[in-house]
Amino acid sequence: MELTANTGTSDTRSWVSLTFDHEISTAEVEDMKRSLGARTALQVPPAVGAGYARARQIGFNKFCCPEVGALMSVLAAAVPTGGRILELGTGVGVGLAWIVHGLRSRTDVEVASIEIDPQKSGLAASARWPDWVTLVVGDAKELVPSLGEFDLIFLDVPRGLKASLFEGVITALRPRGQLLIDDMNPYWGKGKTRLPLDGRDPERLLEDSRVACALLQYASGMILASRLPD
Ligand SMILES: C[S@@+](CC[C@H](N)C(=O)[O-])C[C@H]1O[C@@H](n2cnc3c(N)ncnc32)[C@H](O)[C@@H]1O
Repeated sequence: MELTANTGTSDTRSWVSLTFDHEISTAEVEDMKRSLGARTALQVPPAVGAGYARARQIGFNKFCCPEVGALMSVLAAAVPTGGRILELGTGVGVGLAWIVHGLRSRTDVEVASIEIDPQKSGLAASARWPDWVTLVVGDAKELVPSLGEFDLIFLDVPRGLKASLFEGVITALRPRGQLLIDDMNPYWGKGKTRLPLDGRDPERLLEDSRVACALLQYASGMILASRLPD
């Protein structure tokens, strides 16, 4: 079992959140919370745990963190009837497993996920996905304009590429559709070193009049945007 503990402090109290990538009993979770003084414990869904196992097979560590995956799950759960969801950058299917988790037993939806690397896409395809999931191998930049409109888009390609996809994803969002962009925290995973924002360029999207945006400054950092009706 893998256990991740994130610690942080605020002015008034400290917090610890726990993440488990295998199912363990409620009693065990409560024991750990007590012994570590943790206030929250997020149990990663089994399909996400299976995604971690696929990632280990090829030493891939660029999958979304549980806080981001859980948010995608929540946003996926809210897509309207007949909703369409697009993920850019499948990796080995960890983020996709979170999306599918949010949709539970729904069958009225379509989810497409694009990955440029056939090895990763192939590994993702080795998992069992509902019929309404389509894995596409190709370059997101070339494919996005031909895929139609979406209610929810998860933009999770490497940072240098994100800005080049902004136009395409905003155009592909249905009115009131939502966009989540991962890795918008320039400090994430880099200790205290200040990095230039380079390709992350969040300000460009934050100032775009076609969307309402919020910069979510936790975990790997995200931008959440809603497409405003014309
Ligand atoms: C951060 S990882 C994606 C992680 C995945 N969303 C998850 O949460 O498990 C970024 C992925 O984008 C893929 N990628 C890079 N360039 C791409 C492109 N032009 N089109 C589609 N995928 C691309 C990489 O091969 C890599 O697997």
